[in-house]
Amino acid sequence: MSVTEVSSYHRAPEQTPEAPQGCPVNGFNPFAADYQADPYAVLDGLRDTPVFYSHELGYLVVTRMADVSTIFLDPETFGSQNVQDPLFPLGHSAQEVLGAPDFNPVAVMSNRQSPDHGRIRNHTKQGFSNRRMRILEPYIRSRSHALVDELLAAGSPAEFASLFAHRLPGETIFRFIGFPSSDDEQLMEWCSDRLAFTWGKPSEAEQTGIAQKMLAYWRYCRDFVAARVEDPGDDFTSELLAVHHSDPEQLSRLEVESIVYGLSFAGHEIVSNFLSNALICLLPRRSHWNELCANPSLIAGALEEVLRFESPQTSWRRVANRDTEIAGVKVPAGTNILLSLAAANHEPGCFDDPNPNIFDIHRPDARNHISFGKGIHFCLGARLARLEAVVALEVLTERVPSLRLVQGQSLERFANITFRGPKSLLVAWDQASD
Ligand code: HEM
Repeated sequence: MSVTEVSSYHRAPEQTPEAPQGCPVNGFNPFAADYQADPYAVLDGLRDTPVFYSHELGYLVVTRMADVSTIFLDPETFGSQNVQDPLFPLGHSAQEVLGAPDFNPVAVMSNRQSPDHGRIRNHTKQGFSNRRMRILEPYIRSRSHALVDELLAAGSPAEFASLFAHRLPGETIFRFIGFPSSDDEQLMEWCSDRLAFTWGKPSEAEQTGIAQKMLAYWRYCRDFVAARVEDPGDDFTSELLAVHHSDPEQLSRLEVESIVYGLSFAGHEIVSNFLSNALICLLPRRSHWNELCANPSLIAGALEEVLRFESPQTSWRRVANRDTEIAGVKVPAGTNILLSLAAANHEPGCFDDPNPNIFDIHRPDARNHISFGKGIHFCLGARLARLEAVVALEVLTERVPSLRLVQGQSLERFANITFRGPKSLLVAWDQASD
């Protein structure tokens, strides 16, 4: 199967349609430096036009919470088959790499449509059970402590993203899937720039390099599943295989392999960004941080405010399956749509406190954010993401209460349309906290 076939995991993008007739058009460009630095300021300036067409992307952009929710809740009109597609066309050599006859991951969840989506999700969600979370919690806690040990050993100041934020979610999702820890470094390397491939604007040479890693990773996933068939463990992959063996019609072997392939990305980088964004929000607001150190029961609520205020995911995609209308704008079938979760999360009037641009760990309705989506595709890993972040913050506030951001650093981010987090984050602490 090639990357262009409809049911494949990543489809090559089709030709960009023109702006729908009568639709406002503007120069919105999420790759621009001003948007990458502060998307919220750019989006605030666009509030008078809740639906507009971006030539840069070839997408209709929807910014209002009510419209974003309506679209999420109507999967028949607004399909999700485009959510894992590269934003821009692939160069010849990347196509060639992914044209390998054995590169055949299929759409399984975020990009799979009803009724198959419901079937696959029902089986997959068993893996995110209370039992599995109870098994993972002590692992996440002990890894958080071990990573703090390493951070402290590195000495103040240290780089938090690579020493902690990247590793905790990576190791957690790999153990969840069942991958052996001896492969962690290789796995992180293979998965590291999938973000650029799908949501960024890589050069042709970069596309090819990433495609090679995707192919190597896919082959690893297939071999891993084959090994688990022979020797099941107490892990998510073995649970999926048990479903497959009891009824292959319910879950095919290729679907199991594709779920494993997709989950390593879905469950990793975004949580890394969530952890770094939490520190970016909390550490400079000292009274908030001190409150969390004194009263860890406030951490879960504070993290909901992080997800609202500085979400690691600022957008998601849909495509119109039929002619329709959004906020009075006629939208022809085939129109690609970018849902701005960032704009919706900062929309005046959507939350009790009238000023959505204020970060407040006590905001009572922060949990009404839309960062995990809504409806049938609502993030399957939300519980795991929340658990990882709560445990990480509990350990950091307990062990390093004097943690702070190094003053004067300028935060660089990977330019892309959907995921937001710093490439690196320098933190410091009083040596007495060691
Ligand atoms: C803070 C961290 C995370 C955020 C903000 C996030 C956000 C999202 C969003 C916006 C969607 C699309 C929802 C929709 O279309 O309605 C989604 C889907 C999904 N997420 Fe997450 N996610 C996070 C962490 C995770 C983790 C840790 C995992 C797995 C371990 C995960 C697995 C998935 C899966 C499998 C889907 C597709 C669900 C479906 O289509 O039925 N996510 N996530």
